[in-house]
Amino acid sequence: MSTFANTLIEWQKQHGRHSLPWQGTNDPYAIWVAEVMLQQTQVMTVIPYYQRFLEAFPDIECLAEASLNTVLTLWSGLGYYSRGRNLHKAACLIMERSQGRFPQHAAEIAQLPGIGRSTAAAIAAFAYGERCAILDGNVKRVFTRYFGITGYPGEKKTEALLWQKAEGLLPQENAQQQMATYTQALMDLGAIVCTRHQPKCLNCPLQPDCIAFAENRVASLPTSKPRKPLPSKETTFLILRNQDEILLEQRSSPGIWGGLWCLPEKPIDINSQTYCKQCMGIESVTISSLPPLNHTFTHFKLRIHPQLLQVINYPRKKTATKIWLTIDRALQLAIPVPVRKILLELTSSNRF
Ligand code: ADE
Ligand code: SF4
Repeated sequence: MSTFANTLIEWQKQHGRHSLPWQGTNDPYAIWVAEVMLQQTQVMTVIPYYQRFLEAFPDIECLAEASLNTVLTLWSGLGYYSRGRNLHKAACLIMERSQGRFPQHAAEIAQLPGIGRSTAAAIAAFAYGERCAILDGNVKRVFTRYFGITGYPGEKKTEALLWQKAEGLLPQENAQQQMATYTQALMDLGAIVCTRHQPKCLNCPLQPDCIAFAENRVASLPTSKPRKPLPSKETTFLILRNQDEILLEQRSSPGIWGGLWCLPEKPIDINSQTYCKQCMGIESVTISSLPPLNHTFTHFKLRIHPQLLQVINYPRKKTATKIWLTIDRALQLAIPVPVRKILLELTSSNRF
């Protein structure tokens, strides 16, 4: 037998979980119900629901004959009700198509509603000792670390590689008695030792060959889901110049940069001079466009197009939220990072 499987099996016997209510049976129906409940729910929450469910519906026939409403009533509190609906639907299908005989192989089990490849394999391994690989979220974590595999495990390419590894590590052919222990060992190791946060590597039977442990990459594996690219917005900042002074406006709060002093901003598609005249009563002519700059917020990216304008005449009214001042003085106010960058660029490039 491969050392990997052997090591895990020995570990399971000593340190794994042994007295869960769905263990110690090879009734595929009882195992199926447990695996479906355990798909999205913790062991401790599942136990009482599982016991009540099996008392109410001790076999496939009872489940199929019950009304959906009765099934969902017993499910209530477990959440993800489509699991309960699919369980009932599958029981009816098994009664209709196979006279109540539960499918005998993982590949057929996987055809039932609500059962994916990994759940089907777990049922077949526990009930029949079939030699097939599981790969649930916990097992993906163990394998990405053990083999040092980068790439988000939900991504097709990474997932395919993980399935390949999972199959390669199975106990040898004719290991029927060992498949249940091996499968339970992988689940238990992922749940107890190789946990998402602070895995117990020092107590891990896989540690001597674990690549993530050897290369100190445990914390960075599995690779997290790639972030969606942030949406981007464009805007224009106006540098209104009057002799050696520019105009800053205090932004209202709450809002982006609320309370900070900022260059006047205008929607990207309105002519700057029209905007200055209409909104600020200022006449101006464009001098030049400065190179655009990018700024990243938590929820979007902003691409800023600064435009330098020469003020021709303006009502030099002082208001609480508008001030004319030199760049040196502007740099001493509370100003957002991109405004600071623009002002520094202006002074260093001698445009001002
Ligand atoms: N999670 C999924 N299947 C499980 C099982 N058989 N035992 C414990 N946790 C599980
Ligand atoms: Fe997971 Fe650590 Fe064990 Fe590697 S050594 S399999 S990271 S618990």
